[in-house]
Amino acid sequence: MKPLTRIAIVLLFIVLIGATALLVNLELRFSPASVGPDSGTMVVYLTLRDNQNIDAIASASCTEERPKPNGITEQVAIAIQEKTGAAIRNIVVSEFYPEDLDALVERTQKEKAEKTMPELRTPDRRESSYKTLFIGFPIWWDEMPRAIYSYLDKVDLSGKKIYIFTCSDNSVPEGFDRKIADIEPDAAVHPNVLNVRKEQAQKETIGKLVEAWLRELGLN
Ligand SMILES: Cc1cc2nc3c(=O)[nH]c(=O)nc-3n(C[C@H](O)[C@H](O)[C@H](O)COP(=O)(O)O)c2cc1C
Repeated sequence: MKPLTRIAIVLLFIVLIGATALLVNLELRFSPASVGPDSGTMVVYLTLRDNQNIDAIASASCTEERPKPNGITEQVAIAIQEKTGAAIRNIVVSEFYPEDLDALVERTQKEKAEKTMPELRTPDRRESSYKTLFIGFPIWWDEMPRAIYSYLDKVDLSGKKIYIFTCSDNSVPEGFDRKIADIEPDAAVHPNVLNVRKEQAQKETIGKLVEAWLRELGLN
């Protein structure tokens, strides 16, 4: 065989191996085993921005490019998703919260005082397929947003493992594991709750906090 033919065969071989590796990699990344129900884990979160801005709702996936920066809870949710390969969904109320601060304060305080159960826009479609749920929300008036109560009312989390993460400006509230365990008595709610404060809300810091938390939970 001529040397040139030999080199051409070797090059062809290398290209074929490269293409196969690329296809296998794509197959693994997008197979149902690594993303979606079969991964067994889902991140469910509420962030204010998605509950004020109709444009954000139009794109169901939070991996799509967003017109504004993500809410902080969403950034934490995405960090968890990236590190666990979980599926992800946001919780959205039917009636959006006002952009005006005074009106927002008034409505959220009223919801808290009256223990309102705001109607949700997001259908509870796939929770039953997941064994493990990360549930995340911002702290509103030292409490869970009422939409989280609506969510917990809609879904049956019996038999699931639940990990909670919260975001706040400066409160480091406690007891959400017990609150959620009271509503979902047949779920295993982990007491180690991650809280990310406003001053920690940079991508790198969030990544490190999430990594350390997952390690503590034995999930990393
Ligand atoms: C209605 C409302 C009430 C809030 N109450 C508290 C609170 O009691 N304590 C606190 O530290 N932060 C409070 N915050 C701040 C949010 O918890 C914090 O900014 C959070 O990181 C926002 O997350 P997000 O960007 O995902 O919506 C409140 C924010 C809103 C909008």
